[in-house]
Amino acid sequence: MIDLTGRTAMVTGGGRGAGAGIAEALAERGAAVAVNDIVAARAESTAASIITNGGRAIAAPFDITDLSAVQDGVETASQQLGADIDILVNNAGPPADMRPALFRDMDPAEWTEFVDINLYGSMNCIRAVVDPMVDAGWGRIVQISSGAGRTGIAFGVSLYGASKSAIEGFVRHLSQELAPTGVTVNALALGMLFNAVPDGAPDDAVAALGAMVPVGRLGQPSDIGPAVVYLASDEASWMTGQTINLNGGSTTL
Ligand SMILES: NC(=O)c1ccc[n+]([C@@H]2O[C@H](COP(=O)([O-])OP(=O)(O)OC[C@H]3O[C@@H](n4cnc5c(N)ncnc54)[C@H](O)[C@@H]3O)[C@@H](O)[C@H]2O)c1
Repeated sequence: MIDLTGRTAMVTGGGRGAGAGIAEALAERGAAVAVNDIVAARAESTAASIITNGGRAIAAPFDITDLSAVQDGVETASQQLGADIDILVNNAGPPADMRPALFRDMDPAEWTEFVDINLYGSMNCIRAVVDPMVDAGWGRIVQISSGAGRTGIAFGVSLYGASKSAIEGFVRHLSQELAPTGVTVNALALGMLFNAVPDGAPDDAVAALGAMVPVGRLGQPSDIGPAVVYLASDEASWMTGQTINLNGGSTTL
């Protein structure tokens, strides 16, 4: 069984959804977890749940799109947990007010928020943790991406998809720079999760979306956490530079 005892993780956007599931899964395997979220109450709620279940966690609220806030937040979290972050999970996203919009209907002023969070936000967090990982000769960076970054779809998510493609490209290059140092960098490209259905949508809409997935259902946080645990483990030291589809079989390339 994978054991993360002695490891110190940070999960961005860990206050709900996939991020909460990831934070809980890492804590269950023994990692101390800094739960980041831009909404402090969400970060506190996930951290409290981990502690209630016997794990070790703190809330680390900050905005990942603000580099100096990220650097301060990482420093504070490391002091509180008594160790440098050696597992980073870049999960935060998408922009809070994301709504599907066809490219031709978008104002150019709307383009940047996707890149700000999915590319620069993720890079900010990597910048803040990578040097101590290299110095220690061990680190794990796991990027949460999306099938929309890999396949064209007509749902009105072109900028979201472009920003996820961009961070996947960054991950590939960074993995090569860091490969000799003991720091691995991988991405998980998720398919549609339970929360892709808007609140209040009829049950048959949920069932219809789930039926489009080959395994017959939308993804749950409990589907994502174990994959991150593996990528964060000692056992995954030969896995780097990869983007792995995790999508119930929705795409197979
Ligand atoms: N939900 C899906 O169907 C789906 C599909 C493919 C990929 N993904 C990816 O999975 C990841 C998680 O998605 P989710 O649906 O669980 O998201 P979510 O919206 O449920 O949760 C995201 C969390 O990130 C936080 N956040 C937003 N902006 C932030 C910022 N600037 N700094 C810090 N925290 C911030 C939010 O407050 C929220 O709690 C995202 O990267 C998303 O792109 C999701």
